[in-house]
Amino acid sequence: MTPGKFITLEGGEGVGKTTNLDFIVSRLRDRGLEVVATREPGGTVFGEAVREIFLHHAEVRPEAELLLLFAARVHHLREVVEPALQRGAWVVCDRFTDASYAYQGAGRGIDRSVIDFLRDWIQAGLRPDLTLLLDAPVDTGLTRARQRSGPDRLEREDIAFFARVREGYLALAQAEPGRIRVIDAARPLAVVQAAIASQLDLLLSGRV
Ligand code: TMP
Repeated sequence: MTPGKFITLEGGEGVGKTTNLDFIVSRLRDRGLEVVATREPGGTVFGEAVREIFLHHAEVRPEAELLLLFAARVHHLREVVEPALQRGAWVVCDRFTDASYAYQGAGRGIDRSVIDFLRDWIQAGLRPDLTLLLDAPVDTGLTRARQRSGPDRLEREDIAFFARVREGYLALAQAEPGRIRVIDAARPLAVVQAAIASQLDLLLSGRV
């Protein structure tokens, strides 16, 4: 049995992750693949409970944020992601560990070595095969995200925080250009989806 592929979708607030995740999933299903669509934090009963605390508890210290995310992540990996990949399914995940580097690392200022340690402990060698980073100017996305019903704890952060998150993501992409593909998400949806489709085609044809 060939193991499945692991695709993650990343980006700041309001860049269109949900719409594009649906697009990716249906494109892969059209090829006859078994696809598991999931998200972080979340994806398991435990992880969804953590997500609720993470997004809605009044105050969560940066260190606690990181630990909560990895607590949810270990359940998600063991219960959902790893079994799916092992049976040959493709996993499409809305956010993963790159978000911890961007938000808790670049955004909150937690030292990268701490995140490296947790990643290596929880994931061992597991990394996404492909990460699509939807990139857009922070004010565009933030306005969109805040218009949705009741902004969550993260969405209430100031613009400087999201500027650091964006820079953090772009630095990750620069360091790992083979895995992380930057998609300019400020363009019309059809153009964005054409760019996503060509990245998926490369992966499907084994060229990534
Ligand atoms: P979203 O997936 O609906 O965008 O919301 C998840 C929020 O959680 C988002 O603000 C980013 C944040 N987050 C982190 O700060 N670190 C992480 O590692 C992950 C997975 C998410």
